[in-house]
Amino acid sequence: MTLLIACSSRSDEFAASARAQDPGLDVRIAPSLGRIEDIRYALAWHPQPGLLKTLPNLRLIISVGAGVDHLFRDAELPNVPIARFVDPDLTGRMVEYVVLNVLYHHRRMSEFRELQARRIWKYLPEPAAHEVRVGVMGLGVLGAASAAALASLGYRLRGWSRTTKALAGVECYAGAAGLDEFVAGTDILAVLLPLTPVTRGILNRGLIGRLSRQGRDARLPGPVLINAGRGDLQVDGDILAALQAGELYAASLDVFQAEPLPHSSPLWAHPRIVVTPHIAAESTPPAIARYALAQMRADARGEAIAHLVDRVRGY
Ligand code: NDP
Ligand code: OXD
Repeated sequence: MTLLIACSSRSDEFAASARAQDPGLDVRIAPSLGRIEDIRYALAWHPQPGLLKTLPNLRLIISVGAGVDHLFRDAELPNVPIARFVDPDLTGRMVEYVVLNVLYHHRRMSEFRELQARRIWKYLPEPAAHEVRVGVMGLGVLGAASAAALASLGYRLRGWSRTTKALAGVECYAGAAGLDEFVAGTDILAVLLPLTPVTRGILNRGLIGRLSRQGRDARLPGPVLINAGRGDLQVDGDILAALQAGELYAASLDVFQAEPLPHSSPLWAHPRIVVTPHIAAESTPPAIARYALAQMRADARGEAIAHLVDRVRGY
């Protein structure tokens, strides 16, 4: 079997893990393709546009990420099945990120950090977890697992998805019709949506302004936004404006409209924004190699491929 690694970064690490797990595997790293007729599988992350369409026998594209918007940037993406990355290691990492950041803002840590810097010993009131309503946007693999972990800590959970869901301990809303009610009852919004033509820009000033407000319920000093989905779900400038206007209390942003986040961006220095460099959940080389090999072997045995992407939905 031949696997092409078509990634914009970490190709050598992915190749080394794949070779370690299957020494007989023919692993090639783009742009060194060798005999292109041999290549049936491609492991891809932001592949060079136009590259995959040159492979005449390509059977399956395996996305290094759970998100696949990076593939659809290629206007000439060939019409072969795409499997996205779904793995307990990835899910565990995302749950950690979401829980960490919900706790951080619920427990007013950015304010305590500011007070510490000024050597000020001061009490700040904090609501109990059961008084805080966390809304998870996107109730897929990562959103559902994050919601379950937060519920186990005592938070009140609600979630929003495209199709109607029933999840134990989570008040579920769906579609455009359910969005306003979902948002209006959310104190901390954790976003785990894919980037699609429908979700692009959804985290804008209008939506942020409709989040539950301090004046109404006084659970937190104000609403909180946590985005670990994709940068283009949000409008960076709207988040800053909402913080300045007091419509948001704080934010944790792992993803940005431009990545790396430009040095000049005011988001870096804002005292109530936690910036991380798209690390909420890493696809580690051993985990992604194990996953790719399992998918390739299943395909070679004529079995169904798991976690296929629906190109019409875009995720
Ligand atoms: P899934 O495909 O399992 O879940 C996506 C969820 O979003 C589903 O619940 C889906 O609804 C919902 N959704 C999609 N479109 C809409 C819409 N228009 N309106 C309402 N809900 C919608 O994805 P994962 O949970 O595996 O991953 C989610 C995203 O997390 C990835 O696409 C990726 O962008 C991001 N990610 C970021 C990482 C990071 O390090 N920052 C790491 C890993 C992933 P329905 O259930 O009805 O289909
Ligand atoms: C992903 C990511 O989509 O890491 O998995 O962003």
